[in-house]
Amino acid sequence: MAIKISNNSFYIETKNTSYQIKADKYGILKHVWYGEKTGCDMDYINEYPDVGFSGNIYDAGNDRTYSPDTLPQEYPAFGNGDYRICAVSAVHNDGSCSLDLRFKKYEIKQGKYSIPGLPAVYSGENAQTLEITLEDKKSGLEVILKYGVLPELDVITRSAVIRNNSESPVTIKNAASFCIDMPKDNYESIFFTGRHAMERTPQRQAILQGIQESSSVRGTSSHQQNPSFIICSPDCNEDNGRCFGAALMYSGSFSTRIELDHVGQLRAVCGINPELFSWQLNSGEEFYTPEAILAFSANGLAALSHIFHTVIRNNVCRGNYKLAQRPVLINNWEATYFDFNEEKLLKIAREAAKLGVDMFVLDDGWFGKRDSDFSGLGDWYANTNKLENGLSGLADKINALGMKFGLWFEPEMVSEDSDLYRSHPDWAIVIPGRKPIRGRYQLVLDMTRSDVRDYLFDTISSILKNANISYIKWDMNRSITECYSKAFPKEQQGEVMHRYILGVYDLYERLINEFPKILFESCSSGGGRFDPGMLYYAPQAWASDDSDAIERLKIQYGTSMVYPISSIGAHVSEIVNQQVFRNTPIETRANVAYFGAFGYELDLNELTELEKQKVKEQVEFIKQYRELIHKGKFYRLQSPFENNITAWMVVSDDKKEAIVGWYKVLNDVNESFKRIKLKGLNENLNYYIEQKGEYHYGDELMNLGMITSDYAVGDP
Ligand code: GLA
Repeated sequence: MAIKISNNSFYIETKNTSYQIKADKYGILKHVWYGEKTGCDMDYINEYPDVGFSGNIYDAGNDRTYSPDTLPQEYPAFGNGDYRICAVSAVHNDGSCSLDLRFKKYEIKQGKYSIPGLPAVYSGENAQTLEITLEDKKSGLEVILKYGVLPELDVITRSAVIRNNSESPVTIKNAASFCIDMPKDNYESIFFTGRHAMERTPQRQAILQGIQESSSVRGTSSHQQNPSFIICSPDCNEDNGRCFGAALMYSGSFSTRIELDHVGQLRAVCGINPELFSWQLNSGEEFYTPEAILAFSANGLAALSHIFHTVIRNNVCRGNYKLAQRPVLINNWEATYFDFNEEKLLKIAREAAKLGVDMFVLDDGWFGKRDSDFSGLGDWYANTNKLENGLSGLADKINALGMKFGLWFEPEMVSEDSDLYRSHPDWAIVIPGRKPIRGRYQLVLDMTRSDVRDYLFDTISSILKNANISYIKWDMNRSITECYSKAFPKEQQGEVMHRYILGVYDLYERLINEFPKILFESCSSGGGRFDPGMLYYAPQAWASDDSDAIERLKIQYGTSMVYPISSIGAHVSEIVNQQVFRNTPIETRANVAYFGAFGYELDLNELTELEKQKVKEQVEFIKQYRELIHKGKFYRLQSPFENNITAWMVVSDDKKEAIVGWYKVLNDVNESFKRIKLKGLNENLNYYIEQKGEYHYGDELMNLGMITSDYAVGDP
């Protein structure tokens, strides 16, 4: 049994971890432990100090040592003597905002819970759900904490349901997905930060007293911060050390806050961003928070990544393509931008077909009046000036070449210069009487409205039914500014950000159910919505608009900390690179893009015959090894953030095969050879190193390493 209970203490076990919770003598739900597997009751690590000016609950009488302000808790509420960041706060009908949550009951259910309207980890053989109900007796508000226990995957998921059992409405101001309290120790945080075209750079820092925050208010999970984070010991590296990781399954405005409190304990709270959020919960209604995936490793970051990779690939991603081999695609965006016609596209497709590419993807510019990014969004019908035979005509010709056909959409957007906007100006998110903020000259459609979603579903469905389309790239190219919807009264405007993303999930769900054979790839100006929530609907995401191979080393390295290689859209693009104007050989570009969902994004006709031959070999290579690369264990060997060399590798589950990616950015002069120590091999297996024609045992390759470079000798 993964969940045991004794005297209101809850002991959860996964393969390598224990999680302990206790409802104490006052009914306060204490967090006791999350870490290495242990048979002990870990409550001994909690001291009860008398800390001056910390509040004491009334029931504790004159015992000044019992204070919510120092107590590790599972789901701390605002207004009850805990001055640290809280997980939940609510304003009652009388205007007061205190919640005194006490243990009411628990229930264990077989199987993993799901969440209406929100993405959640599914299945898990032997999965169980623990539900602990807390109650604020005065108001009747209940919080049901849900713990999904997936023992084999070594994962615990968390989410909460807030239920209003009172007669009057309550306004929820904050409803985190989880809180985790950690005992006094030294900790560091790793957030995944960045900007457009440089996403998910690991940013590691010491945690000192006070609050650190990683968050988004953009309506997307964002390029700037990612809804996943790690807390680790200062000595933690890829192979050693304790680390806790969390990945929030949410694609909207989120917040992760980490506080080192006044007695040196650490608290992390993560969920919907309370800024811009409030939710009117009427009598009898429930509110569901998004889910978070939690994992712990006592053996460093690589082991933590492996847990996340496995659960996201197998138990978050869905559909026919979650484990199927992903098509090698060619996308026309960087090759043509908006300037194309059928013949120009077919010319690229013909060359791609000759070189073995599986699928041709038509990007932005095929619809309405869309010759630049000033117009056309929302008018999802083919522009016959560019495509004289329409989408079905083009798709048929691509299919006749032996390739599948894929198409770009940006469903959530509208251009002011579009038929859609002219007929439905009220569908755009704007504040009446104010000039809207534009982003890439466009406005955001109000996805909270079912009529908007119905229009999008009908329009997109009819295109998918009338042309043979096997793939959709679903883009989202601006953030939300005016968080306002005409569909809701003023009391409910705080719900709009969250309702927007619920609307996006709803449309995705309808489309993937209607078209189960289509592969969806998500995108938000590159990697602006790369999160586990999106991966529940689309198993791969375009990782970044920066397609330069050297820049991609950093982006893919950072992304791999949490996200599986199969989810990372990566293309060989043209040189001179269009973002950083660098020239890299076609081999380097492919060698980096292999470690992702692989494709091309250039005009193959402009390559030399030799380069085309290389592309052909690359396509053969990736078709042979994509299964291994996507399903194997990924190890980061050398960080692009530390020096001139980046290295990583994948190893098959049976450890019989491995592929190493080794990248030297600048050449060294008069430097002798370099060695790289491999990881994850079977020490007793004799491996054949293809490039060298040599055999070496796994222990040699891991302990001493493999020589990677030939001598680079410069003239004296
Ligand atoms: C975004 C995407 C690109 C491309 C363009 C099209 O920037 O990230 O890959 O699809 O939009 O406008």
